[in-house]
Amino acid sequence: MYDGDIASVLITEQQISEKISELAEQVAKDYPETGADLVLVGVLKGAVMFMTDFARALPVPVQLEFMAVSSYGSATSSSGVVRILKDLDRDIAGRDVVIVEDIIDSGLTLSWLLKNLASRNPRSLEVCTLLRKPDAVKVEVPVKYVGFEIPNEFVVGYGLDYAERYRDLPYIGTLDPKVYS
Ligand code: XMP
Ligand code: MG
Repeated sequence: MYDGDIASVLITEQQISEKISELAEQVAKDYPETGADLVLVGVLKGAVMFMTDFARALPVPVQLEFMAVSSYGSATSSSGVVRILKDLDRDIAGRDVVIVEDIIDSGLTLSWLLKNLASRNPRSLEVCTLLRKPDAVKVEVPVKYVGFEIPNEFVVGYGLDYAERYRDLPYIGTLDPKVYS
């Protein structure tokens, strides 16, 4: 599949799966049952694979919500100006909420999302991201759960795309430069 497009495998399927078990254990420990289920907010489309695996790894009941946002900017970097394409279906007031992200790069998208969701008065609000790039320090965003710190390279697979392709790869890899040109 995608013969020759992937320059290297950065994180294997096995490593992703082990990390998700660790993150799930950590999160489950931090959210003793309160009577109301934890709400996971997945950010479409990139976080879909992580969201579904993470939800199934969590030994506590969760409800799944999705948001789709578009950030204005070039294809590979964002500006922090965000538009909601799909909002949550439910009110999160009084609920424990965890935002589930595929990757934090500049952190601008997340920073906006945190403010937006915080204004809806959840009981608590945290972030769980599978990947984080070094530039994430540009914006101070409190991220409690991080799967992998990765180098500043464009990555695809496991939900992450280039021009909507490669999301279906089970691992995370870097793209061969010939794909861009
Ligand atoms: P910021 O910069 O606001 O943006 O943290 C995060 C969003 O940018 C996209 N992004 C990537 N997508 N491979 C991708 O497929 C990457 O290496 C990459 N880096 C950033 C992604 O949509 C993420 O939610
Ligand atoms: Mg994304």
